[in-house]
Amino acid sequence: MNQWYCSVCHETFSGENKPGTCEICHADDRMIMKLEEVPQSLEQVRDLARKKLKGICAAYPSCDGNFDKICQREAYGKPIGLGGIGQGQSFRANVKALADIQLNMSVLGDHFEPDTSCSFLGIGLEFPVLASSTAGAQKYNDALDETLFCTSVLKGSKEAGTIGLRGDTWFYTPEDNPSLNAMKVCDGYGIPIFKPRSQDVLKNLIEKAEKYGCKAVGVDLDGCGSTIMALHGQPVFKKSVKDIEELVKFTSLPFIAKGIMIPDEAQKCADAGASAIAISNHGGRVLDSTPGVATMLPLIRKKLGDSVTITADGGVRTGYDVLKMLALGADAVLLGRDIIRAAVGAGTLGVKLHLEHIQKTLKKAMFMTGTKNIKMADSKILFKHN
Ligand SMILES: Cc1cc2nc3c(=O)[nH]c(=O)nc-3n(C[C@H](O)[C@H](O)[C@H](O)COP(=O)(O)O)c2cc1C
Repeated sequence: MNQWYCSVCHETFSGENKPGTCEICHADDRMIMKLEEVPQSLEQVRDLARKKLKGICAAYPSCDGNFDKICQREAYGKPIGLGGIGQGQSFRANVKALADIQLNMSVLGDHFEPDTSCSFLGIGLEFPVLASSTAGAQKYNDALDETLFCTSVLKGSKEAGTIGLRGDTWFYTPEDNPSLNAMKVCDGYGIPIFKPRSQDVLKNLIEKAEKYGCKAVGVDLDGCGSTIMALHGQPVFKKSVKDIEELVKFTSLPFIAKGIMIPDEAQKCADAGASAIAISNHGGRVLDSTPGVATMLPLIRKKLGDSVTITADGGVRTGYDVLKMLALGADAVLLGRDIIRAAVGAGTLGVKLHLEHIQKTLKKAMFMTGTKNIKMADSKILFKHN
C-alpha cells in the first residue's frame, strides 16, 4: 500500500494507485505526490519545479534574466514566459540594483534575537515579506490548475506567518476568477490585485473581494500596456488620479496602487487616497530599460515621507535582499518568480518552505547588521562609497 500526500492541504491517504483527486480539498492529481517523495528542502522544491517548468524556467540558483538563461527568450520575440520584456534590461536592472548595494557588517554590542514581526495595513505579520501578485502559472506546461496555484500561494503564505497577494490575467474573468475563487477557499485571507480594467468591471471585482472578506485590494496600474488582455476581450486602461480616487472611495478596504516607479506618480496615488504604494516595474515585464526598483525606492520614500506604506519588489531573492529594500525605505517586500516556482514545485508546502527560508535569511541579515527589529532597518546599515 502506498502513502499519498496532497501538497495543497497536506492531507495524507493510503492506496495502491495515485488518487485522481484529494478527498479533502479536491486538488487534482498534479498536486498529489508519494509521501516518501515530499520535499523537505527548498532544493528539492526547485528540482520539482525545474522538471515541471522545462523549457520555460530552469529554476536557476540565480534568477536574473541574463541571456544565458532559458527564460530570457523575449529578446528573440518569443513568448515572455517567466522572463522580462524586450532585452530583459529592466529585469536585470532590478537584480543589479540590489547586488550593487552592500550591507555594513556589525559585530559589536549586546547579543540579541532579531524581531522580524511587523504590521502591514493593520495585518500582523511574522515578517514583512509577502507573496506578490502573479498569474498565469497554469499556462506553463499545464503544470497546475490556476485556482490551485492561487490557493497554494495564499495558504503557504498564511502558514509561513505572512499574507499573499494574487494577480489577474487574460483568462481570468469576473465570472470565473481563480484569484477570487482561491480567496473564497481561504476565507478572504489574501489581497487580490486586479488589472486596470474598466472602472465598472473593477468595482464588480472589488465588491466580490469585499464579500469574501479580503484584507485589501489593489490595481497593478503598470498592467495598462497589456495587449493580450484586450485580445481576449478584457481591455485594460491607463488610470487617472480621478479613477484611483473613485476606487478608493468605492471600497471600504485599503487600496494598493501597484506598479509605480516615479516619485511624482507615487505622490499622486497617495494624494488620491491609496493606502499603500507598491513600487514595482512588474519584474521587468512591462517596459524594457527602466531603472531597478532598488534605485527608485529611496527617491520615492524621500518624496512621500514616512506616512505612506510602501512595498517594493523586483529581483528580491534572499533575506539579505529583503533587508536592503527595508533599509532603502520599504515597509514590506514582495516576491514574484520565486513564489511561482515554489507553488509549481510543491503547492502550499513549497510556498511555505520558501517563505520560511526567506525569514531565516532575513533574521541572519538583521543579526549581522545589528538590526534588532524591522523599524530599525534604515540607511545606516548600508555601505556608502565615498
Ligand atoms: C509570470 C509572472 C506573472 C505576473 N503576473 C502579475 C499579475 O498578474 N499582477 C501583478 O500585479 N503583477 C504580476 N507580476 C509581477 C509581480 O507581481 C512582481 O511585481 C514581480 O514578479 C517581482 O519581481 P521578481 O519576479 O523578480 O520577484 C507577474 C510576474 C511574473 C514573473
